[in-house]
Amino acid sequence: MFSLIYRSVAKEGFLETDIYKMLSDARDFNAEHHITGCLLYHDRKFLQLLEGEKSLIIRLFNTIESDNRHHKIAVLKTEDRLERIFDRWSMAFYDYGNLQLSAQHKLRQIDQFFEASRAFEKSSKLTGNYFGEVREMLLDSAL
Ligand SMILES: Cc1cc2nc3c(=O)[nH]c(=O)nc-3n(C[C@H](O)[C@H](O)[C@H](O)COP(=O)(O)O)c2cc1C
Repeated sequence: MFSLIYRSVAKEGFLETDIYKMLSDARDFNAEHHITGCLLYHDRKFLQLLEGEKSLIIRLFNTIESDNRHHKIAVLKTEDRLERIFDRWSMAFYDYGNLQLSAQHKLRQIDQFFEASRAFEKSSKLTGNYFGEVREMLLDSAL
């Protein structure tokens, strides 16, 4: 099992409706290949955690990296792991796109989202890293 976290920024023309369409295709592909994870979208920024068999994750990430609907792609962390964090999700998605909420409120919402996915029960360096990045992303644009 291999996990990879990256962040990126949606390009101008990548509209919310297109993101939902992409997500629907992505979920089919991921389910077929036993790839799980979580994609957050906030203020045009993506933060994605991918998990699955190493060669599949690397191949998928190469595809995602060359997807010209987003840019400024940066890998934040990779890890060989024994268990999945989002074992029940072919790609959990949390969209902050249209929410006008305080940073505090957003953090509370994301905590509830992760609690519902039971991701907190699998705490490790990687999850700590991911949740840290999530908080940073939310707070960053709230300032
Ligand atoms: C932010 C972002 C996240 C993506 N996540 C996935 C994903 O988890 N699984 C997937 O199959 N495609 C994902 N894609 C889409 C891929 O980049 C690509 O379009 C898709 O795999 C189809 O590839 P193909 O046109 O080479 O068949 C994502 C794209 C973006 C922009």
